[in-house]
Amino acid sequence: MTSNKPIGAALFGVGRIGQVHLKNMVDSGRLIIRWLVDIPAQHGLMAELIKRHRLTGETQISDIESSQKVLSDPRVDVVIICTPTPTHYDIIKRALTAGKHVMCEKPLTLTISDTKDCYELARKQKKILFCAYNRRFDKQFHTLYQRYKRGDIGNLRVVKFTSREGGQSKQYLQNNKSRIFLDMAIHDIDYICWLVGERPSSVCAFGSISSDNAELYQTFDDVDCVTAILNFPNGVMAQMEDTREANIGYEQKVEVLGTKGLIQTQNMKTSELCTITQNSCQSEALLGTFFDRYKDSFPTELNHFVDAIEGKEEILVSAESCIIAMEVSEALSESLKTGNIVKL
Ligand SMILES: NC(=O)c1ccc[n+]([C@@H]2O[C@H](COP(=O)([O-])OP(=O)(O)OC[C@H]3O[C@@H](n4cnc5c(N)ncnc54)[C@H](O)[C@@H]3O)[C@@H](O)[C@H]2O)c1
Repeated sequence: MTSNKPIGAALFGVGRIGQVHLKNMVDSGRLIIRWLVDIPAQHGLMAELIKRHRLTGETQISDIESSQKVLSDPRVDVVIICTPTPTHYDIIKRALTAGKHVMCEKPLTLTISDTKDCYELARKQKKILFCAYNRRFDKQFHTLYQRYKRGDIGNLRVVKFTSREGGQSKQYLQNNKSRIFLDMAIHDIDYICWLVGERPSSVCAFGSISSDNAELYQTFDDVDCVTAILNFPNGVMAQMEDTREANIGYEQKVEVLGTKGLIQTQNMKTSELCTITQNSCQSEALLGTFFDRYKDSFPTELNHFVDAIEGKEEILVSAESCIIAMEVSEALSESLKTGNIVKL
């Protein structure tokens, strides 16, 4: 595709993350937003978003039931999917079949075989299928990756990942049907495997339901805290902790130890202000949500997708790495259930 042709887009799902992508699509100035697609109950919201972003005359609204007309629209080149995870597979397949490039929120699908199916179809259709693992596009995480790859810390030995968030709503857990490893820890799994550069040979996991909101997770046969070890053939060991309910804000940390040094990311705070008195030294609170913490990664990720469509960049999240993350997530869920070390 030449860079001069305007790229027409359809956005499926205008909920939490859909609105983040919509704003970035508008701000990028690189996409013409032809359609917003959601369920009828969201029509009022879609109309309001069209007004807020000054898209009147450019953007139409569609129900999911009649979305085939959106996919048949020749002015639509790309489909961006921000609907609940169980709906991704059907929308991805229909969009690729209609000859569109696809950017889809994580996790791509609920099963490994569905993910493989989607990539096989993308290959046949010669279209890009981009699973939006936004952490790869975060400035700190991306720079850590680049510094390790250029040899700053020698050979990798240990990776430690901590992800703690301030809780999930009942509706989100109900709609998404994916449990902690597939829904939350998949971000960390993808990043770790990308960094290490291979598939772990064995994994094990432990979990607990220990937060004040334990009952909510029990209802969904899930846990609210997991810790896991990923063991790689090249000798690297990775430790992960993912906690759904931490009353401390949104904490995200990665530390990598190599033969020649160590790199750590820093938690991001509401400000860098530090208040010092005779008796205390107080820094500011952590950022509260993923919206704030990863705010800059989302436009970078979107621009990367558009660059890839325009042939300027190779897509960063390959089919193989997306499938590996799904396999590791499934193996960790199995280990959590059985208490066994699972070999991959
Ligand atoms: N990358 C990230 O950091 C990140 C953050 C949040 C969510 N997500 C992912 O994004 C997806 C959506 O999550 P969310 O938190 O925005 O959910 P949400 O519930 O806030 O929004 C989902 C939207 O999709 C709509 N919808 C439901 N079924 C639909 C269908 N069949 N077709 C079209 N629209 C439909 C809903 O009405 C709603 O507007 C999930 O897969 C989730 O894992 C990723």
